[in-house]
Amino acid sequence: MSRQRIGVGLCGLGTVGSGVVTLLDRHARELSSRCGLALELVHIGARRDNPNCDTSRYKVSRDIFDVVSDPDVDILVELIGGTTTAFDLVQGALNAGKHVVTANKALMAARGNELAALAEENGVALRYEAAVAGGIPIIKTLRESLAANAIQSVAGIINGTGNFILTEMAKAGRDFEDVLAEAQALGYAEADPTFDIDGTDAAHKLVILATLAFGIPLNSEGPFTEGINSVAPEDLRFAAELGYVIKHLGIATRAGERVDLRVHPTLIPVDKQIATVDGVLNTVMIRSDGVGELVLVGPGAGALPTASAVCGDVADVAQHMARGIGDSLPVLGRPVSELQELATVPRGEVESEWYLRMVVADEPGAMADITRLLGDQDISIESLIQRPPETGSTQVSVVIVTDRAPGAAIERATSAIAALDATDGSITMLRIESFEAA
Ligand SMILES: NC(=O)c1ccc[n+]([C@@H]2O[C@H](COP(=O)([O-])OP(=O)(O)OC[C@H]3O[C@@H](n4cnc5c(N)ncnc54)[C@H](OP(=O)(O)O)[C@@H]3O)[C@@H](O)[C@H]2O)c1
Repeated sequence: MSRQRIGVGLCGLGTVGSGVVTLLDRHARELSSRCGLALELVHIGARRDNPNCDTSRYKVSRDIFDVVSDPDVDILVELIGGTTTAFDLVQGALNAGKHVVTANKALMAARGNELAALAEENGVALRYEAAVAGGIPIIKTLRESLAANAIQSVAGIINGTGNFILTEMAKAGRDFEDVLAEAQALGYAEADPTFDIDGTDAAHKLVILATLAFGIPLNSEGPFTEGINSVAPEDLRFAAELGYVIKHLGIATRAGERVDLRVHPTLIPVDKQIATVDGVLNTVMIRSDGVGELVLVGPGAGALPTASAVCGDVADVAQHMARGIGDSLPVLGRPVSELQELATVPRGEVESEWYLRMVVADEPGAMADITRLLGDQDISIESLIQRPPETGSTQVSVVIVTDRAPGAAIERATSAIAALDATDGSITMLRIESFEAA
């Protein structure tokens, strides 16, 4: 008997889950028309009601695993987050021969190799467009549209919460805690915002982008990671004075047979396109040999933008199912057996210009010592700001912008400067990225 409809099961009814219910409901007719078969939400797994979401028309189970075992569910949507129960749920669904759509970057970064292999074995789809950059179709772009390109780099602002916080702090002069609370109220921040702030969330996403761009296995340990918590309000002010903005970037670069994966706050010249991407917007810039430079910009978080990506995956899988094709796309851009490890460029070798901020005693010879220690490592100074001491203070704030230098040389120079009696031992070091044409 031919199939009459495609059943969707949804696990997790939080910010994104409720957005998925909204979009599946709002576009039910259009989605079914695209598939040529009725596409229906048939079962929701939620351990409690969400006051923002009317589920009265749907079958709801308090045990999310009931959704996996429901024979009416063809496509399981995992939106509970985390890597433990979510792994069991996705594994169970794939083993049961169901297609899976998830927005869970933590799960994909940590266990995606196993899950992709399992999906391949079972001949089912595992889609995760919403896991990176929310509503921006970056997974499809890298996996399908750019298949005939050698990707040189993928760089971008890939955490909406972090970008929202840095933008509000820089433009409105607001406190970190105040902006974070607003980001949580708006549904941008994760329930536990630690990963948004310490860079882990962006690192998870960068790992996924690097796998699709370079054909390497997912490696959640791969990126060097620094969060937005290393940026102080005075850094945002000094950066503006120097003609830069500070953005939290993920950067994945192919360097011959090695890769460089980094997530950190970065100074960017104000006139660069990426510097103008503010608030909860995300952006991803891809450089490749065929198309050249491609920039995608769009909402990186929030209920409906993220749900849009989830529902796009659901529709894609359903369209394949309706035609009896099964899943024709390798989960990670190529079969898991074709993925090849590449070594990571040691952090000390990676060159950039640097922003250094320090507090220095207002005494003769202090600046001469600092410039000499930089010179000892062949580091040239591009510009320097020295604030006059506040009334009654004997200390000055000094900001130095250097020419390009390897991380190891900067580490040696700043260690020596921090050991001077004239400094208080702490130096803020941020990289500068000019995004010059490749
Ligand atoms: N929010 C965004 O803008 C965004 C953007 C891109 C990707 N994502 C990803 O989307 C996923 C969902 O995020 P979200 O923001 O919607 O999270 P959320 O608002 O915290 O919602 C999570 C939902 O899952 C439920 N849940 C969690 N653990 C469960 C368990 N063990 N058993 C049953 N239910 C469980 C929660 O139930 P309770 O309410 O009972 O705890 C809640 O309904 C995450 O993987 C996240 O990384 C989110």
